[in-house]
Amino acid sequence: MLRTIAGKRYYGKEVVDQEAKQFQIIMREVTELQGSSNLNDFLPVLQWVDFQGLEKRMVILKKKMDMFFQNLVDEHKRMRSSASIQSVNEVTKMTLIDVMLSLQEIEPEFYTDEVIKSVILVMLLAGTETSSTTMEWALSLLLKHPETMHKAWAEINKNVGQARFLDESDLTKLNYLQNAIDETLRLFPPAPLLIPHESSEECTVSGFHVGQGTMLLVNLWTIHRDPKLWVEPERFRPERFGGVEAEGYHYQLLPCGVGRRACPGAALGRRVVGLALGALIQCFEWEKIGESEINMLEEAEIVIPRAEPLEALCKPRQTMINLLYDL
Ligand code: HEM
Repeated sequence: MLRTIAGKRYYGKEVVDQEAKQFQIIMREVTELQGSSNLNDFLPVLQWVDFQGLEKRMVILKKKMDMFFQNLVDEHKRMRSSASIQSVNEVTKMTLIDVMLSLQEIEPEFYTDEVIKSVILVMLLAGTETSSTTMEWALSLLLKHPETMHKAWAEINKNVGQARFLDESDLTKLNYLQNAIDETLRLFPPAPLLIPHESSEECTVSGFHVGQGTMLLVNLWTIHRDPKLWVEPERFRPERFGGVEAEGYHYQLLPCGVGRRACPGAALGRRVVGLALGALIQCFEWEKIGESEINMLEEAEIVIPRAEPLEALCKPRQTMINLLYDL
C-alpha cells in the first residue's frame, strides 16, 4: 500500500533505515490502539481522568502520524519541484501522493495537505490489515484442504502456465481462486461486525422498530454461517460459488458491507489478495508442519487475525525456479 501511496517499501529484511522503523512502530501502535476498548466510552465519568490513559496515547500518536505523513507529502513536493515538467507528468511513475498533488495544483482549496494526509491514513488503516488477514486465512484454509490447493494450482497452471508470473489481467480467468477467496471471506470475514452504523432516521427493519440514532452492529460472522442461508455452512467449499448453486446467493455474502457505506476498496482488496495468493500458489508447493491439524482459532480484535500466526513449509516449484532466480 505504501508503494502505491508514496513509492516506498518499508517492509522486508533489507529495510533497515530509520524512516521504515519509525513507520513500523507507528503502525504497530495504531493496530494496538484501534483494537482497545476505551472504558471512558461506557462510563463517561472516567473521561475526567482518562482512566486508562488511552486518549493521551491517541493524541500523541496522531501527532506522530501527522508529522510522518506531512514529511512524505513535503518530500514529494520537493521532488516535483526539482523534476522536469515532463517527468512530473509521466503517469506511469506517479504515486498516489503525486496524483493528489497534481490535483492540488488545480483545486488547492479542496486538495489541501490535510485531505491528502487523510486519504493516506484511511488507505493504511482500512486497506492493509483487511487484505493481509484475508491472505493468511485463505492460505490456512487451502493448507487444511490440499485438494482445493491443488485445484487452484491446476487452474493457474492451465490459464497462466509456468513461463511467466501471473499478473492482474489473469485474475478474471481464475474463477476457482476467486471462489476460494470468497469462501475464505465467508468463513473468516476480517471485520465480522462490519463498522458500527447509526440510523439517521427512525425506521422499521423486518418488523423491528429502530429509533433515530440507534447504533447498529451487524453480526456478519453469524450471517455467513447461518444454516438457513448456506448449505453445510461450516464447510470450506469454494465450489459453492461456482455454477447453479451460486445463483441463489445474493445478499448473504457481505464481507465488505453493503450500500452507501460499504467498503470502497473492495475491488482493490480482492485484486491484491488474488495476486498475492495466486503468486504463492503458482511459485511454491505448500505443506503444513507436522501431523497436527492447523489451528483455526481467531483472536478477538477489530480485524480478526489468526490466534497463532500461520506457519507452513514451502518449496519453490521446480518449473518456477528459473523465474524466481531472475527476480
Ligand atoms: C479483503 C479486503 C477488504 C475487506 C474484507 C474490507 C472490508 C470492509 C468492511 C467490512 C468495511 C465496513 C463496511 C460497513 O460497515 O458496511 C470496510 C470499510 C472501508 N474500507 Fe474496506 N475492506 C478491504 C479492503 C480495503 C482496501 C484495500 C481499502 C482502501 C485502500 C479499504 C478502504 C475502506 C474504507 C475507506 C472504508 C470505510 C468506508 C465508509 O465508512 O464509508 N478497504 N471495509
